Formats: sequence, C-alpha cells, structure tokens
Amino acid sequence: MELFEQLETATIPQYEIIINDLLARQYSIVDSFFTEEEVALFRNSLLAKYEEDRFKKSAIGNRTNEEIDRSVRGDFILWINELQQTPAEQLFFEKINTFIAYLNRTCFLGIVQKEFHYAIYPTGTFYKRHLDTFMNDDRRRLSVVCYLNEAIWPASNGGELVIYPEGKKEIEILPLPGRIVFFESQILEHEVKPVKAGERLSITGWLKTR
Ligand code: OGA
Ligand code: MN
Repeated sequence: MELFEQLETATIPQYEIIINDLLARQYSIVDSFFTEEEVALFRNSLLAKYEEDRFKKSAIGNRTNEEIDRSVRGDFILWINELQQTPAEQLFFEKINTFIAYLNRTCFLGIVQKEFHYAIYPTGTFYKRHLDTFMNDDRRRLSVVCYLNEAIWPASNGGELVIYPEGKKEIEILPLPGRIVFFESQILEHEVKPVKAGERLSITGWLKTR
C-alpha cells in the first residue's frame, strides 16, 4: 500500500490547511501537528542530549562553512543524525516524512532531502532578522520550526518568531509548545526576538529540493 492511503483521514484536512496557507501567504502556523505526549517525548530527547553536553554554539553559514557570531544568533544547536535516531526522533521523522510524501504527491514540490537540528535559546539570546538561505544553500525550500517548551510560554518570556512578509505587516508568533511553523525558506525574512525568561526549546529543519 502506498503512504498516501495509509494516512489517517483526519490528517488530510490539516495537511490541506498547511498547503493552502503556504500557497496563499508563504507560511503556515499549526497548533496540533504533534500531540502533547509527542512534544514531551521530543523535549525529553532534546534535554537528555543537552545534559550530555552535546550541543554547540550555533553558527551562521551552512554545515560546511560555519562562522560563530554571537551578535547575529545566540542559540545552541545539535543536528539530528537520521541514521542514529532515538525512539522520539524516529516518531518525529515518521510524521515529517508522511507530510513530505503528501506534499510531493499533491504539490510536486520535489522534496528529496531534509536536515533538522535541536535548538536551545537561553535567556538573553536571539537570532537577528535573516533569510534561511543566507550564505547558504539554495536547496532549502521550506523551513520548519517545532516548539518544545514546557507548559505555558507566557508572552512576557519573549522569544517570538517574527516573520516579515514582503510589503505587509510583520507577524509575531509565540513559541507555544506543540506549535509548528512552516515557511518558504527562499522568500520570507524572519527573526527570533530576545528570550526574556526561560529557555526556548525547538526542533528546526529544512525540506530541500535537488
Ligand atoms: C533558524 C530560525 C526560528 C525559530 O533557526 O534559522 O530562524 O523560531 N529559527 O526558532
Ligand atoms: Mn531562520
């Protein structure tokens, strides 16, 4: 049986909403792409690796051409190795892969590759306005950010993702747990506002074309 037919029917309207949003305005914000239990699993997987000291200061550029600049971004990241997944990561990629299959099938996006990392923004850190293709990789088509914060993230914690659609007012998105944001990597400039309290946790990645 093909992937398409294995989808729970309940997932299809959600996928269609994301696709319609992406076509209409180049981004989509969804609050229940993953369940609360799944988010807790992903968060625990992130924290376990963070406690093992496996994260490093993020860089600008790409994976082979990195440069650390704390005035541009202050998060700590760990790339997820798809060949050595924790059970939580396996679950994460199952859902992402199902969505990619649907995207390729219905939108002919030709997503052939992906890369994802965990990210932690400690209090006081930010990521200045940028495009995800900066000095980078023109194969990135869609950016994906999945927030893993614990419980409620009050607006006073800051750390908003701000998206700047061309010629329109910017959109501020709180990093609420369970929220996932998709946007066009080549088109939409965005930034992460300074985190004022707490640690901002996420999985961020890119769906790539050939
Ligand atoms: C990035 C990025 C946004 C976010 O890592 O390139 O823009 O909300 N992240 O974490
Ligand atoms: Mn970015």
